[in-house]
Amino acid sequence: IALPSPPPRQYPSFYSNAPKDILPSLKFPPGFLFGVATAAYQVEGAVKNEGKAPSMWDWANKQPGAIVDNTTGDITDLQYFLYKEDVARVAALGVNAHSFSISWARILPFGTKDSPVNPEGIDHYRDLIAYHRKSGVEPVVTLFHWDIPLALQAYYGGFASPNITDDFVHYAKTVFKAYNGSVHTWYTFNEPNVYCGQIASYPFNASIPDGLNSSTLPYHCAYNLLKAHAGAVKAFREMNIVGEIAFKNDDFVGMPWRTNTTEDAEAVERHVAFQIGIFSDPVYKTGDWPKIMKDILSPEWLPRFTEEEKAEIRGTADFFAIDCYRQQYISAPPNGLENCLSNISDPLWPKCNVVQTFDSNAGWNIGAFSSPGTSWLEDTSRFLRGYLKDVQARWPTHKMIASEFGFTQPFESQKTDLASIKEDTDRTNYLMSYLGEMLLSIHEDGIPLKGAFIWAMLDNAEWNSGLNTRFGVQYVNYTTLERSYKRSAFALAEFFEAHLQK
Ligand code: NOJ
Repeated sequence: IALPSPPPRQYPSFYSNAPKDILPSLKFPPGFLFGVATAAYQVEGAVKNEGKAPSMWDWANKQPGAIVDNTTGDITDLQYFLYKEDVARVAALGVNAHSFSISWARILPFGTKDSPVNPEGIDHYRDLIAYHRKSGVEPVVTLFHWDIPLALQAYYGGFASPNITDDFVHYAKTVFKAYNGSVHTWYTFNEPNVYCGQIASYPFNASIPDGLNSSTLPYHCAYNLLKAHAGAVKAFREMNIVGEIAFKNDDFVGMPWRTNTTEDAEAVERHVAFQIGIFSDPVYKTGDWPKIMKDILSPEWLPRFTEEEKAEIRGTADFFAIDCYRQQYISAPPNGLENCLSNISDPLWPKCNVVQTFDSNAGWNIGAFSSPGTSWLEDTSRFLRGYLKDVQARWPTHKMIASEFGFTQPFESQKTDLASIKEDTDRTNYLMSYLGEMLLSIHEDGIPLKGAFIWAMLDNAEWNSGLNTRFGVQYVNYTTLERSYKRSAFALAEFFEAHLQK
């Protein structure tokens, strides 16, 4: 199969393909959350301060070769101490929300349910949340954005072990109790498919519990994580916590490469099931794995839920949140599925699909649940409307939040003079196009979009890509920690002003 070339651009990249006279009059619905996003490991730094224990990443980023540019999250933006400046800078733009995560290892240093609670960690996030409220910026809180306490990874292999469920639920209850009433939008997990598919086994192969390997681990992780999610949401409801809770899906709904074959349509269904249905079907539909997964994977690979567990998992989200970075063309294996299957060593037949990714993310690729594909750095906004319609058709919801979207490009970090760094034209065009498409999704397609969060509030530690992969709408000088608005930040401010209903 020849790899497709990107489809031609249908519109000039700035400000979507909407007729220019229509777009200015379109508004986001009242109460729309218009925000920027961050995550604890990526922005906080201060990794040894005020009683914080190490997370898995604080260990992993010291291992040779783990981070492409050998940087760490030890200091990064130092937002742990500079949060007032950061919240004020966001409020100054007129942005009304900030999605951030809490570091588990700051609240419960050992991670476990019998770990002492760290009062300084509890106080820190109380102050942080209060400062958001005082500044008119809605705090949106994620409990787990990949930074598992190192102790849990070392004791029992983290999410590979069933022990994680009780420990996570205890952590969630501790946080709910501490901040009940001051946070109204909660997420349990950030992108569980990326976490279980790529991060839970990385770079910790040595601590994978007996009986699992890097191919089976993602499915055991998914099983334990879903039970942890369901337990946390059950507690949320039993404790009558104010507000709504969900988890953040990642964007792996694909499109068939050839529209005139059933093979590619089937390949899309396999892809969707293994990438996103794995979490969304249980929570939003059946309480159970997608049928396609159960047909393929034996219980040793994919542990089965009991009827009681299914009942506990089904319906454990109040809205649908999805990150929107990429879109993918999917085609069936070129020489037939049977032929492909006989040539691979494990039953992961999604690996046979040919996946071509359009990505805003410096060519990152997709992980263990699917095949290594080809990816293009692309203005993926052109796919957004179709993508959101597909999501809404698959998991109908009364409220959708685009929980992250954002842009990086490899050469940006090679720029050295601040003036040209600040002129981030490509990111600006990209974000404006997305926001224009979102307005059209709401007004033309009837998508119940109630929030949009730009990744990221400021440059930060991009996991194993390090500090030099920059997603921020603010530049951070990592020597002086000075922040500077980029062009994109001002464009967002103008867009908010023009399209938000007061
Ligand atoms: C989504 C993740 O949630 C976030 O942590 C990451 O930095 C962005 N994608 C960009 O890769």
